[in-house]
Amino acid sequence: MTPRVSLLAAGAVAVAVVLLLAAPARASNDEGDALYALRTRLSDPNGVLQSWDPTLVNPCTWFHVTCDHASRVVRLDLGNSNISGSIGPELGRLVNLQYLELYRNNLNGEIPKELGNLKNLISLDLYANKLTGTIPKSLSKLGSLRFMRLNNNKLAGSIPRELAKLSNLKVM
Ligand SMILES: *[C@@H]1O[C@H](CO)[C@@H](O)[C@H](O)[C@H]1NC(C)=O
Repeated sequence: MTPRVSLLAAGAVAVAVVLLLAAPARASNDEGDALYALRTRLSDPNGVLQSWDPTLVNPCTWFHVTCDHASRVVRLDLGNSNISGSIGPELGRLVNLQYLELYRNNLNGEIPKELGNLKNLISLDLYANKLTGTIPKSLSKLGSLRFMRLNNNKLAGSIPRELAKLSNLKVM
């Protein structure tokens, strides 16, 4: 090797080392982590969540998950999926979510108040489950919400007065 070639080679090695150090094996994806946390709390006898592989770079190729062009999760479609367990606070981290479709399952526990963080939510469909507790007041922060179907659960109390200010909302 001439000195010049070996200098180039050394430079290439240095660049490669820097790139390796800068890029972890899997860039962390908070939306994927939140969905995977949901998966771990659910019982899934029909295997609808089997494609939810947390080692992928993002959850956009997982079945029942839809992303926008910027790889942000905008839909979760798990209606009629025979899943049970509680919803949990993690879904409140899917801040780009527009459609949360969890109807006709066996979900129990309370509606997490963290769902009030889903500022872009258009449709919240939790009907026909076994949800208990009251409807969180925090849902009144969902300024984009147009459809909220919570019927056929075991919810107590009434619809919080705060939700009346959501003028586009149809509650069923
Ligand atoms: C739902 O899951 C239960 C097991 O928990 C199973 O017995 C039942 O057949 C499943 N229902 C459907 C429609 O797949």
